[in-house]
Amino acid sequence: MESSPVLSSPARRLEGKVAIVTGGASGIGESTARLFARHGAKVIVADIQDEKGQEVCREIVGDGGVASYIHCDVSAEADVQATVEIALRSHRQLDILFNNAGVIVKDQPLLEVDRSDFEKVMVVNVIGVFLGIKHAGRAMATAGGGSIINTASVASVMAGMTASPYTASKHAVVGLTRDAAVELGRYGVRVNCVSPHLLASPSVCREVGMDARVVEDAVEKASVLRAAALKAQDIAEAVLYLASDESRYVNGHNLVVDGGYTTTNPSLGEHLFASSSSS
Ligand SMILES: NC(=O)c1ccc[n+]([C@@H]2O[C@H](COP(=O)([O-])OP(=O)(O)OC[C@H]3O[C@@H](n4cnc5c(N)ncnc54)[C@H](O)[C@@H]3O)[C@@H](O)[C@H]2O)c1
Repeated sequence: MESSPVLSSPARRLEGKVAIVTGGASGIGESTARLFARHGAKVIVADIQDEKGQEVCREIVGDGGVASYIHCDVSAEADVQATVEIALRSHRQLDILFNNAGVIVKDQPLLEVDRSDFEKVMVVNVIGVFLGIKHAGRAMATAGGGSIINTASVASVMAGMTASPYTASKHAVVGLTRDAAVELGRYGVRVNCVSPHLLASPSVCREVGMDARVVEDAVEKASVLRAAALKAQDIAEAVLYLASDESRYVNGHNLVVDGGYTTTNPSLGEHLFASSSSS
């Protein structure tokens, strides 16, 4: 049998690689930027929260990593193109794009959603992801390889959990991911997405108007997996896998990180047991 070239798991799994992390000033993006840097990547944090993004980079550098910040509104094509060009100019390569920036919106009945609110979600969550794939994908295709990871959501595989524009946007991210995986695969560029479960990030807490602890408690009570509370670090670890060479044959995949939540729907059982215990 041919021996496998794969791949011990080095302690620094992204050594020598260059990564852009959009939405890297906060939440999942911030955790991932820090983890990428700890694994040896040179990280470019791209966000619209300039002070927070610069602070994250300062801390990464203070911890011995390599990071720089760029203001990039992912819905503006010129910003996305400039971010990719700066990565190439500064580091002469681009290996990873974590296409993560997104807006989370308050749940609202579909019949009451304004067209303009729908568009605001789509322009960041879908057009932003498209622009990242387009410009990073061009650079990676020219170089003959790379890994793009888009952030979808559990709302990409189930309905009724949150606002309709958000659900639609995250389903679209999966469609874009699959299509890009097919088109860019021929250049050696992999495109996958990660789908986090509900996590008490700053924007979630703001939109639901709840304290992080309350959100975390609710997620824990409704969870399938009793072993652990979901943290941004858990999503970052999944993204690290998709970014690293350890996933070199994984393409077009939606990696759902939800402790099994979307594999089941316990409501029938709950109603059944509730009615049998009350009769
Ligand atoms: N937190 C959750 O429960 C959850 C669950 C599933 C998916 N997600 C997705 O994860 C991603 C990250 O969200 P988070 O939970 O870390 O939230 P967050 O608010 O902590 O981080 C989002 C970051 O994106 C940035 N951003 C927003 N619009 C931008 C734009 N136009 N251009 C550049 N940057 C922009 C924000 O400034 C912020 O730093 C989003 O795509 C979100 O939809 C979050």
